[in-house]
Amino acid sequence: MAELDRPGGSPAVPDDWTYAPAPESRDIVRLRERYGLFVGGEWIEAKETYETISPASEEPLAVIGQASAADVDSAVTAARSAFANGWSSLPGSERAKYLFRIARILQERAREFAVLESMNGGKPIKESRDVDLPLAAAHFFYYAGWADKLEYAFPNRRPRPIGVAGQIIPWNFPLLMLAWKIAPALACGNTVVLKPAETTPLTALLFCDVLRQAELPAGVVNIVTGDGRTGAALVEHEGVDKIAFTGSTEVGKAIQRRLAGTGTKLTLELGGKAANIVFDDCALDQAVEGIVNGIYFNQGHVCCAGSRLLAQESIYEPLVDKLKRRLETLRVGDPLDKNTDVGAINSAMQLERIRELVESGREEGAEIYQPPCRLPEKGYWFAPTVFTNVAQSYRIAQEEIFGPVLSVLTFRTPEEAIEKANNTPYGLSAGVWTEKGSRILWMAQRLRAGVVWANTFNRFDPSSPFGGYKESGFGREGGLHGLEPYLRFDE
Ligand code: NAI
Ligand code: MG
Repeated sequence: MAELDRPGGSPAVPDDWTYAPAPESRDIVRLRERYGLFVGGEWIEAKETYETISPASEEPLAVIGQASAADVDSAVTAARSAFANGWSSLPGSERAKYLFRIARILQERAREFAVLESMNGGKPIKESRDVDLPLAAAHFFYYAGWADKLEYAFPNRRPRPIGVAGQIIPWNFPLLMLAWKIAPALACGNTVVLKPAETTPLTALLFCDVLRQAELPAGVVNIVTGDGRTGAALVEHEGVDKIAFTGSTEVGKAIQRRLAGTGTKLTLELGGKAANIVFDDCALDQAVEGIVNGIYFNQGHVCCAGSRLLAQESIYEPLVDKLKRRLETLRVGDPLDKNTDVGAINSAMQLERIRELVESGREEGAEIYQPPCRLPEKGYWFAPTVFTNVAQSYRIAQEEIFGPVLSVLTFRTPEEAIEKANNTPYGLSAGVWTEKGSRILWMAQRLRAGVVWANTFNRFDPSSPFGGYKESGFGREGGLHGLEPYLRFDE
């Protein structure tokens, strides 16, 4: 075995080894210099524009339109006429064909979309490639299957489309949130005006090309880019029959106030502060992986992130030790590198918010741990962070940080775990780690959270409904439940 003989007796495995760079090529993405608004199947120019950048390098990527109230009005008019002129009366089996086509095209162009998503949003390519894109396509496949079966989904209730849906989405899962919104709306026979988040418009704009390839009739889907002003214009437009919003609790509340008494249907998917509850009988190494996935996935920009770790006192020390050791192996850096685990923070504004909350954690008396890691000089970055010695009253235990920051608390009994887990204005998700099935069920019944994961975390499937309690919002997306907000049942 000559190849195992090493000159100078150097060890077969070096004791300090690092990953060589493994960047995914950007060549597959063809950016235009500027993008207009996609209205009635055509590109129209917006008067006002802004630049969208890469958060990993601060490099400008393209010039984007800031849609005015008049542009939003054109988009709603286009959606209204597409609704009246054929789309809403098309047989479900025909609508399904378009959705199946969109799903297949997304699969075919998955690499292009994944690279663009990572360039514009900062998330690691392995996540956009292995999570965002497959799930977005799966959503279209799933709702394509329902389009001609609505009468079976709601027997004896005569389901009918509601009209024009106004949809406002955030920057943490740009294409996936677009899929969550558009797929059920079209399956039910509605038309759409969608507004992507201002920092991440590019995959939504590339999606317009998918619509063209799928030959979706003009005006069925309209995309208007811009910031909160564009969103507000969409909410205020009287021609919109339903608003679906995913974003901050603050804006969600403002939208709810604005629409109160108007008859416009509304679903809100807002913030969270999920408890990830670890019992002493769990498989500890598996739980550590679940905790890491729960809070460092997508830089912690996840509404259902497991941002509060509740550790049973009897395993607190080994758990925190293992967790800290695991954090040392996380690779932070270039989102387009295939080995990157934690990418760039989405925007300067979000980085500022994370820094401010982390500072409050230090000041209130929590103990901070960050593994040694070198952050790139340009762009927006934040090292994976764990806070121990956290009291329930601290801001880092109460407020959504939306960054790679975990707060560790402890409990002794299942009752105490429930009390602490539910001690939050939010109620989106929770995790339970234990060997005992009976305990999982006991906990799941008592947790005030829309989703409860057992011995796993951050798992999604289009057939499984998702949504919150309390200040996390109302309405469900995904599954059979996700059809209901896009239908009316009157005679
Ligand atoms: P945001 O709620 O302001 O933005 C979400 C979307 O709403 C974007 O498309 C934005 O342009 C739009 N929007 C903003 N103001 C609006 C208005 N008045 N009317 C209609 N649409 C409007 O969230 P932001 O400022 O980007 O992030 C702030 C915090 O919100 C984050 O730190 C995080 O805690 C939370 N957040 C939660 C999300 C979730 O998935 N639940 C997603 C994004 C943010
Ligand atoms: Mg905002």
